[in-house]
Amino acid sequence: QMTIFYTQNTLKNFVEAQKSAKKTIGFVPTMGALHEGHLSLVRNAMTDTDIVCVSVFVNPTQFDNATDLKKYPRTLDADVALLKTLGGNIFVYAPSVEDIYDTDVHAEKFSFDGLEFEMEGKFRTGHFDGVGTIVKRLFEIVTPNKAYFGEKDFQQLMIIKKLVSKYKLPVQIVGCDIHREASGLAMSSRNQRLSKEARKESAFIYKTLLEAKKKFGTKSAMQVKEWVQKQFNKHPLLTLEYVEIANIKNLKTVKRKSKNQTYRIFIAAFIENIRLIDNLALN
Ligand code: PAJ
Repeated sequence: QMTIFYTQNTLKNFVEAQKSAKKTIGFVPTMGALHEGHLSLVRNAMTDTDIVCVSVFVNPTQFDNATDLKKYPRTLDADVALLKTLGGNIFVYAPSVEDIYDTDVHAEKFSFDGLEFEMEGKFRTGHFDGVGTIVKRLFEIVTPNKAYFGEKDFQQLMIIKKLVSKYKLPVQIVGCDIHREASGLAMSSRNQRLSKEARKESAFIYKTLLEAKKKFGTKSAMQVKEWVQKQFNKHPLLTLEYVEIANIKNLKTVKRKSKNQTYRIFIAAFIENIRLIDNLALN
């Protein structure tokens, strides 16, 4: 039997008892519609900590698009069933919007020292304020020892690390590898909304990232980006929103590489009006 808490007060009581019993708490925040990518985070948490909290909450304040929020899949029963298959010491926090926000469904304003102005921040206004707001609140409610985030949302992971250091939050952030389908497509809750054909075609994103990585050995960042743009221009179904190559220290996007720096390539693209993101370490 898996315990599901629907309110922060019941959850807090439970967590307090666990802490009194000296249990360490791992935390995996999600928006549900769980897939193997989420489960890989939960598995990492299970190996590190005594008891794992998975939150399932579609956070309204991080959506810049009302349709996307409305269409976001909500599948709590299936999510719980999937978590049960892991056989770990797991509990679920599935709050209502009121439990988190009361009647004030607004994001706080954050500064993440510039991380929030790059890439996703340029195209999703207010998104990271929404993410910062919810993750900070969830940390305060769950009080985990460690929290797990996927590199699938690499910029988000960096922003959470910044949030924790800025506010001196007593939690250790663990970044986890991107989990992919056999085709290479990064797993995402939004993949559920793709038609069979679009799902197949979306493997093109990862394929292009891999080829870009090869080219990055001999070409400049600008040349690699232009090459990626050209590949997407030729693709009948996928529309590129952006391709960027960024220094992983500060996520500043670059045109050419400097010595002794580490870079990643980032892509956001649309297919059937669904927005997909992916990224890959270049060196
Ligand atoms: P969501 O998109 O549900 O993702 C929850 C966590 O799972 C994030 O840390 C995300 O990076 C990770 N994840 C998703 N797909 C993954 C994959 N294919 N491989 C590895 N990890 C993957 O990210 C959010 O929710 C929200 O912004 C949240 C942090 C919960 C705040 O609302």
